[in-house]
Amino acid sequence: MDDKSIIKSYKRVSGFYDYTFGQIFRPGQKKLVSMMECSKTDRVLEIGIGTGTSYKYYPEETKVTGIDISPDMLKKAKKNIIKHDLKNKNVLMMNGEQLTFEDNSFDKVVGMYVVSVTQNPDLLINEMKRVCKPNGDIYLVNHFSFETDSKFLKILEKGLMPVSKYLGWRPYFPFSEFNAYAKLNVQSISKVNIFDYWGIIHAINSPAS
Ligand SMILES: C[S@@+](CC[C@H](N)C(=O)[O-])C[C@H]1O[C@@H](n2cnc3c(N)ncnc32)[C@H](O)[C@@H]1O
Repeated sequence: MDDKSIIKSYKRVSGFYDYTFGQIFRPGQKKLVSMMECSKTDRVLEIGIGTGTSYKYYPEETKVTGIDISPDMLKKAKKNIIKHDLKNKNVLMMNGEQLTFEDNSFDKVVGMYVVSVTQNPDLLINEMKRVCKPNGDIYLVNHFSFETDSKFLKILEKGLMPVSKYLGWRPYFPFSEFNAYAKLNVQSISKVNIFDYWGIIHAINSPAS
């Protein structure tokens, strides 16, 4: 999955995203934002903001910047901000693998359903860690494969890997492989959404012990 094909596939889905994927992803967005316990002073960055459907779950006074590489998804996000009169929320076109923010710029950095989609998850997580303040919070909601998942599911997901470019995401993505390079100092992992297929990962931006 290269950037061009990601942009192309989100151009295709942006028109119906909120009524389809957006509906499935909603409980995870809501739960993750409630776990964040955002304060008035928190500066939050959300990578891969998409159509901005998570924005309604943040407190009005919390300043959230959302970035995405898809101009079509961002167009929808801008409309959502205006339509729902969302305060302190903005969006920018940017690649999460090459953020233009300074080091240690944000208290909390979030990635919702983006780690399985981006071309280089290692670059994305490195950038999330770089722009997050030391001891700040990193949150992901994503489908990862865990040791405890059923064998049948793993076989199915591995079987789908050759068509991942067409699906637009990596069906088989072991968390252990991801965290071997991400080296997240994981505080909690909880399951969410239909069939508990996705996981919310909360990490502190400090070296894992
Ligand atoms: C499955 S959608 C999730 C959207 C949103 N986070 C949500 O919860 O509905 C994945 C989003 O990540 C974006 N994306 C993929 N790779 C990216 C990257 N490297 N940098 C920024 N955005 C990216 C896509 O354009 C798309 O909008």
